[in-house]
Amino acid sequence: MPAFPTEFADLLTPKGLRILRGRDPEACGALLRVPPQRFISLTGVINVRKAVACRDALEEELRPTLTPMEDPIPPESILGMTENYAELLPKTVRVRTALLESRRSRSWHAAERVGLTAMLRSESFAAFASAVSGRTLRRKWGIQVLCYGPGDYSGPHNDHHPEDLEARDGYVDMHVSLATPAVAHQWLIYAKGGHFSEMTPVNTVGGVTVYRLPFWHYTTPLMARPGAEADARRWVLLGTFLDAPRKPERVSPGPRAQGR
Ligand SMILES: [Fe+2]
Repeated sequence: MPAFPTEFADLLTPKGLRILRGRDPEACGALLRVPPQRFISLTGVINVRKAVACRDALEEELRPTLTPMEDPIPPESILGMTENYAELLPKTVRVRTALLESRRSRSWHAAERVGLTAMLRSESFAAFASAVSGRTLRRKWGIQVLCYGPGDYSGPHNDHHPEDLEARDGYVDMHVSLATPAVAHQWLIYAKGGHFSEMTPVNTVGGVTVYRLPFWHYTTPLMARPGAEADARRWVLLGTFLDAPRKPERVSPGPRAQGR
């Protein structure tokens, strides 16, 4: 039997289910509040025992299929500088990913076997993102799986997509973290009021983070417990959701039509 349930709802605790049903005033609509809040970290929403079973299935089935994704610091960012204090850092990252787009990939088959694809595509997965972000989201969404090992990180970036008409005014990301016990720590650092002043631990088994992008953030290098490097990994299950198109406004019948 696949480790992942068909519906995301079946992983949730009573608190998680309350959020899904729109009955948790603290979490529901959290990313629509004034003053603007662009990020929320939720713990205690996924049943830990079930999360552990899911993580173990990823470790067993998906791990051998992962592909490295690496964008290092370009040497020209130092060597090519001609002006003091004019450094510019493009997005840097080192992580592994499971390629879920191609049905021919080994990752795709492994994800199907453990039931991961079905769960990430389930209505309740999107409904949870919608409840927390407070927005109606498009019915088709992107899915991705990342796996951070020791020293893996993502450098400062903002995930802004100004060239994409549908994303340029903002969109929603939801991440589920599934870390192994060998991870010592990993943090998400993000900007508030123009400074990287906020940090939250992402070394969780079943923690859910929801983002209203774009905003500046980075993920610190994953640190393993001493001597446990070989077993230290944090899996991230991602959904990327565009806002549902606004309904065309109803054409008013106009003053002359009134009363008919
Ligand atoms: Fe990001």
